[in-house]
Amino acid sequence: MAFKKNKVWQDFLRKTDAIENLIGLLWFVVSSAIIVWPSSLLDWQWPRALAMIMLNGGALGLIINKILTMHARSIIFTRRIFILLALISCAALLAANYLLPLNPFLVPVTAAVAVYGFIYGNRSVAIYLTIYLAFVLALQNPENWFYFFTVYTSQGLFLIQLSSSRLERNSLAYSALLSALAGIGTMFLFCLLGQSDIHILHSGAAAMLFSALTSTVIIIGLLPYIEDIFYIVTPTKLLELASPNNPLLKRLLMEAPGTYHHSLTVANLAEAATEAINGNALLSRVGAYYHDIGKIKRPLFFVENQHAFDNPHNQLTPQMSAMIIISHVKDGAALGKEYKLPRPIIDIIQQHHGDSVMSYFFHTFKETNEKATESEKTTVNEADFRYHGPKPHTKEAAIIMLADSCEAAVRTLEKPTPSRVNNLISRIIKDKIDNGQLDDSPLTFREISKIRVSLQQTIGNMFHNRIAYNDKSKD
Ligand SMILES: [Fe+2]
Ligand SMILES: [Fe+2]
Repeated sequence: MAFKKNKVWQDFLRKTDAIENLIGLLWFVVSSAIIVWPSSLLDWQWPRALAMIMLNGGALGLIINKILTMHARSIIFTRRIFILLALISCAALLAANYLLPLNPFLVPVTAAVAVYGFIYGNRSVAIYLTIYLAFVLALQNPENWFYFFTVYTSQGLFLIQLSSSRLERNSLAYSALLSALAGIGTMFLFCLLGQSDIHILHSGAAAMLFSALTSTVIIIGLLPYIEDIFYIVTPTKLLELASPNNPLLKRLLMEAPGTYHHSLTVANLAEAATEAINGNALLSRVGAYYHDIGKIKRPLFFVENQHAFDNPHNQLTPQMSAMIIISHVKDGAALGKEYKLPRPIIDIIQQHHGDSVMSYFFHTFKETNEKATESEKTTVNEADFRYHGPKPHTKEAAIIMLADSCEAAVRTLEKPTPSRVNNLISRIIKDKIDNGQLDDSPLTFREISKIRVSLQQTIGNMFHNRIAYNDKSKD
């Protein structure tokens, strides 16, 4: 019976998906048709133009979302991203409304593509956006639509090709300039083939170069605001944060070297696990670099920094120790804000322990309390040993929580044989699920299983020599 119900539900979902696809397609066709026919975009009053552009933006959102769910599952489309997507397409088309009469090549196609590339670092989405914009803009010149479509597309695709290897703010100006040259090259080809004349080439080339350079300046100026307002951390920003020259990472290395190395290991584990589920691996890597940044405040209270020092917890009550350790989350978030880390990274810092209980100090406390005389006994309050949360809200934050716990636990294994390591990792992940720490994250059981396998493989590889040595020593 349950199976039958499940099948009915799946059939319904499949149908809904098909209906959504159909609505998206109809929306796209109708709105494009309204833009192109019966009147041109150029003749419109601006409110009508804006309404049509918004409609097109929405259609674009739906279509690209559908394409993405087919081809690029790694991208999570939030409502903010949808709004941003619609705004980018609207901005490009609105600019076209005013710029097309001056010169068709003043339209900032490359700017729209570059913003998109920066935000997602995803080639296929940028390619779809280029083709879409080139198509809509080319249709404004129906008699020469193929010429305009080819020039816009070549310019946009060249920019994608140039920037796909490594998107950096500084190289954007060069990439935009070269992509404009690609567009000019295409215009020149049309001239050679006798499909266009030299005057169009001259004015078009000047307009394209001007548009590429001015839009680069505007994008570089606007990106920090886009990142902030739309709660997006761009691949470029992440690469900047991953640099060992970052002042906060330098501080971590100098003031808490043990934590620094722990963070690098967690970063490797989290990155591989995130890749396994097609998540944002770069966000996981950088989030892991900064997850324990709050330990800078009292480094010696954390085991990884205590090599040559006495353990200061020996002088403290378990409650006091727990309080100090729990505070590294709050301190980390404060430091992150002070150093202007992007919000997704600060969220990872705040969520990497969820609201789990610090079992070591809690058990120590319970043991000492049980041994104490009646008069010395205090009430056992689990809340004193609990992190304040919140639980991880994103896949990346949840993966960092799992990688962090596994790394710390495996490090304490005395004889890390492969089976012991694997069992420990499975147990830690099961505990996190049982304690509800993954309840607020969007991870599916299938993904959790992939993450477990990835963590077991990566940790297995890292400990390979130690494991092999220990296994041999048994013989
Ligand atoms: Fe931590
Ligand atoms: Fe950690």
